[in-house]
Amino acid sequence: MTSIPKRLVVGISGASGMIYTERFLMAVPVDYEVHLIFSETGQQVMATENGWQVHQEDFRTFIEKKYGQNRQLATFIRHEAGNHYAPVASGSFKVQGMVIIPCSVKTLAGVAGGYADTLIGRAADVSLKEKRPLVLVVRETPLNQIHLKNMLSIDQAGGIILPASPGFYHKPETIEDLADFIAARILNVLHIPQSLYPGWRERLE
Ligand SMILES: Cc1cc2nc3c(=O)[nH]c(=O)nc-3n(C[C@H](O)[C@H](O)[C@H](O)COP(=O)(O)O)c2cc1C
Repeated sequence: MTSIPKRLVVGISGASGMIYTERFLMAVPVDYEVHLIFSETGQQVMATENGWQVHQEDFRTFIEKKYGQNRQLATFIRHEAGNHYAPVASGSFKVQGMVIIPCSVKTLAGVAGGYADTLIGRAADVSLKEKRPLVLVVRETPLNQIHLKNMLSIDQAGGIILPASPGFYHKPETIEDLADFIAARILNVLHIPQSLYPGWRERLE
């Protein structure tokens, strides 16, 4: 049996919560190749909330400016959302899974409806048809019945709804601590090793 390359697809749509994206991308193990796809609004909200201008600097440059040099980071490759010729548009391009973080309710609706008009929607549709893990970090509040039905559809199709809803029992002191909680949960559901947070009471056992 051939092993699946250490590759992830990460879609970034125009919901609030770009700190989740930033901390998740920082937590992906260094030997992974991450294919990034921003929606148009995703790029704008990233610039507004985090100050990362994705067309001007790559993720490593942005992170090293913000947190200091020599960070251990994965390899990042960015694709334009309109580029349906990108490798991640095809099921023949093997990846371990896809995460949409943050996932707007518009992108949620697109994926739930199989409406693959952008590369994010197409790659998500590919994940579901190929029975690969697809994690949607949905961020909206409150939720209406349409959002809830769309989330149910994703779950029924084999996707994972992982709301941007951090816990507080680990006594977070910073916004980064809260975001790391979600980053750890995503890596856990993808069965990718993470050292951000052990499981509850795992330290004691
Ligand atoms: C600053 C800002 C914050 C937003 N926050 C959210 C949000 O948390 N959740 C959401 O579903 N939409 C949010 N939106 C609206 C989406 O960006 C909008 O519906 C957009 O069409 C989503 O497109 P996309 O999914 O292709 O990125 C926000 C928009 C802006 C400008």
